[in-house]
Amino acid sequence: MHSLGLLALAAAGVQAVPQGLGGAGGGAMLRFGCAQTVIDRIDPLVDPGQVPSPHVHQVVGGNAFNATMPVTDISKVASCTTCTFTQDFSNYWTANIYFRARNGSYHRVPQMANAQIGDANGGVTVYYTSPGPKQVTAFKPGFRMFSGDASRRKSAGFGKNMQSCYRCFTAPNFGGNTMSPCMDPKIDSEGFPSTPCPGGIRSSVIFPLCWDGKNLDSANHIDHVAHPVGGPASFAVTNAKCPSTHPVKIPQIHLEIVWDTTKFNKKEDWPEDGSQPLVLSHGDTTGFGQHGDYVFGWKDDSLQTAMDKGCFGPTCTGLKTQAFPAANKCTVKSAVKEDTDGWLPHLPGQDMNMPGMSS
Ligand SMILES: *[C@@H]1O[C@H](CO)[C@@H](O)[C@H](O)[C@H]1NC(C)=O
Ligand SMILES: *[C@@H]1O[C@H](CO)[C@@H](O)[C@H](O)[C@H]1NC(C)=O
Repeated sequence: MHSLGLLALAAAGVQAVPQGLGGAGGGAMLRFGCAQTVIDRIDPLVDPGQVPSPHVHQVVGGNAFNATMPVTDISKVASCTTCTFTQDFSNYWTANIYFRARNGSYHRVPQMANAQIGDANGGVTVYYTSPGPKQVTAFKPGFRMFSGDASRRKSAGFGKNMQSCYRCFTAPNFGGNTMSPCMDPKIDSEGFPSTPCPGGIRSSVIFPLCWDGKNLDSANHIDHVAHPVGGPASFAVTNAKCPSTHPVKIPQIHLEIVWDTTKFNKKEDWPEDGSQPLVLSHGDTTGFGQHGDYVFGWKDDSLQTAMDKGCFGPTCTGLKTQAFPAANKCTVKSAVKEDTDGWLPHLPGQDMNMPGMSS
């Protein structure tokens, strides 16, 4: 069954599945879609209670997402999820990408579903990986974390293991290289691609995989987790060693978002100086400030079970799933009433006079 899963994933464009995953070692790799829950200008992790918060996010997962999310078991608060694993009420969110036309107007770049996983309304492809049974400890209710650095405007210097990267698809249907993401600077870039991407752009955000074993959160939402010894691990690493300060290995989470840039590829709309026109919704024109937020919300021990069973791909014996027509129906109303689409004179919340510019 695992080798079938590998074949299916290879066909689906994930070729570089590392040794030990889906093989005799019993490694796990969940790979599943979560449709869009809401696009909104709130951030329960970084700016709890602030309506509006400084920048727009795209959010997937359960419908307990709110401007304030108390540290509690949100799988008991949510009643539906946009993820195809119906026991996953977690929330995952990232900044959006906007296109800035030559005339200075902005337009949100829509997302497209990962064609390999079904007819999702936008959203994200989520991965959870583990090197083998009982080698990772699933998150506890209330756990949350942040990955990346919104204020970063140059390379993080992580070398080959970029942790956050972009792939420029050279043709439709994810055309171009099908290697795993963020492992080769010749294929993926840590900042925005510098030329138009005919098939769109895929963002990858890879979360830290070591935990201090005690704290569900920390002031910056980062310090309770850590990268393994030697820096961030590639996706999907199987053999990283955690530092003594953060000795508990947690599942490696990886978010993939595919942006449909095809309507924004006309050279006459691009800046005359040849610079690239994309900007993250927090005002970052470099792309280095890409980041992801996570609030754990799997029901009971379902995630631990999936990791220990070596589950692979979008299904797992004993876990419940739904198809996208159902998942797409789970939404929450945006808390902030404002136009985040159409041609806009400035990024929502990023008027130069507003506090929080580029935060
Ligand atoms: C969000 O929080 C507000 C204020 O606490 C509450 O009225 C509302 O029902 C919550 N929304 C969801 C979707 O839980
Ligand atoms: C700016 O340029 C875009 C793309 O060409 C166009 O659709 C939009 O209407 C323009 N906006 C204004 C205010 O001229």
